Amino acid sequence: MNYRHAFHAGNFADVLKHAALMRVLTHLRMKETPFRVIDTHAGAGMYDLSGDEASRTGEWREGIALLTDDPLDGPAEAVLAPYRAALAALCPGPKTYPGSPALIRHALRAQDRASFNELHPGTCVLLRRAMGRDSHLVINEMDGYMAWKAQVPPPERRGLVLVDPPFEKEDEFDRMSAHLAMMARKWPTGTAMLWYPIKNLAAVARFEAAIRESGFSKLLILELHVDRAEDEGPLAACGLAIANAPWKLAEEMQLLLPALAERLARGDVARWRVDPVLEG
Ligand SMILES: C[S@@+](CC[C@H](N)C(=O)[O-])C[C@H]1O[C@@H](n2cnc3c(N)ncnc32)[C@H](O)[C@@H]1O
Repeated sequence: MNYRHAFHAGNFADVLKHAALMRVLTHLRMKETPFRVIDTHAGAGMYDLSGDEASRTGEWREGIALLTDDPLDGPAEAVLAPYRAALAALCPGPKTYPGSPALIRHALRAQDRASFNELHPGTCVLLRRAMGRDSHLVINEMDGYMAWKAQVPPPERRGLVLVDPPFEKEDEFDRMSAHLAMMARKWPTGTAMLWYPIKNLAAVARFEAAIRESGFSKLLILELHVDRAEDEGPLAACGLAIANAPWKLAEEMQLLLPALAERLARGDVARWRVDPVLEG
């Protein structure tokens, strides 16, 4: 376990993941009934962009920093509103950036709950420190896949599982698709949001084929390419596979992703994809 998200906080991949996450949470808040969010690979919760790790890579300069000065075009900016509001509330200055636990907590109401799962002991200490005491939250130092299996379905029977692993292991795609199939059996009405890097296009195609067989009939694929995807070198493209996406999400992402691709492009091959796919 060498991965530390502090090196990558606020990069283009976080922008996509967190902007989409805040839209999904906004949709969950539209009904009064309680929901639960299960974050399988939670990370440290808050990041210091002026700290050693973030400064060494400077990835946030090609991510969130490109969004701070100018709004996107009208309709795209409107889609970004819940993400912007959370950043404004959570970040005391431009040199901090929230992780998924801080964003999720920001969206919870009195009746909602979240569980944050993080295996790395040192990161878990940082996460507990960042979140403080909060009766709405449970923080577990445990394997995210074990947590996924053990914590679904939640008692509320409404909610989201966010799966954002480090992709240090060869079998990460296989573990994600197998656990998505597990969730389709145990909690077919829950929403799942799976983040993945796009480097090896054949591996991504195999993953897509596998999740089409997961048992979820409603799947949405989002992709953001800020440059040509390549096996080696810095990450230039990533995706989100969303099972049981809220019905307006595809429409919202059709507005947001072209503007994000244009703003975050590193070269002239930036592109995006919003693809509702059905079970194979
Ligand atoms: C990509 S980061 C998570 C970022 C976070 N979701 C966010 O958006 O702010 C992945 C995290 O997973 C943790 N991790 C690695 N292996 C894990 C495992 N098997 N179970 C749970 N967490 C794990 C890493 O320590 C790291 O903090």
